[in-house]
Amino acid sequence: MALPAGKVVLASGNPGKLKEMGALLSGLDIELCPQSLFAVPDVEETGQSFVENAILKSRHAARYTNLPAIADDSGIQVDVLSGAPGIYSARYAGAGASDNENLRLLLARLAVREEVQATACFQCVMVFLRYPDDAMPVIAQGSWHGYIVAEPRGDNGFGYDPIFYVPTHGCTSAELDAEEKNKISHRGQAMRALLEKMSVMVS
Ligand code: IMP
Repeated sequence: MALPAGKVVLASGNPGKLKEMGALLSGLDIELCPQSLFAVPDVEETGQSFVENAILKSRHAARYTNLPAIADDSGIQVDVLSGAPGIYSARYAGAGASDNENLRLLLARLAVREEVQATACFQCVMVFLRYPDDAMPVIAQGSWHGYIVAEPRGDNGFGYDPIFYVPTHGCTSAELDAEEKNKISHRGQAMRALLEKMSVMVS
């Protein structure tokens, strides 16, 4: 695959995401540098959609470091909650909320409605900018369908993984090992699609 060689900054501070994205990009001729290496400050996610926020994050990291940048914006959408928490997944229970607080709030909102096995979808948009003012971002997305279970299960992954039931595998995504999750997840789908587009772009 003829992808751009050299340093690419990864515009995320989320350790769970960094781990998954690092694994997805391993073996390529790309030196993936987390933005923490350059002390890139967080940018305010003011977009109304995953794609707007992914562009904001990659633009911010590329400008700050003067390097090509990859960012993902992701979250979970629950149908019966009109797509919430969506782009607010990381801060559903408030700014700085823990994964467990966010997950508990989601379960509480579903319990009030007596919802069992609410259908839900993990969404991910992945963006690559070749340079800070790139006016033609490379954009890819992935969606992963499942439903929410009331009892958290499993210790792998992060965020809402313990309550996201994967019907194709008969377990929650926190019960999948990292490699299996990357094969089927929203982030795995988006990263593979992004790499495909990037290789077309440079060939
Ligand atoms: P972002 O960093 O603003 O994109 O927020 C992403 C948030 O969505 C995370 O903090 C998690 O709460 C949730 N999320 C995204 N992807 C996953 C996943 O693969 N598993 C579990 N939760 C996820």
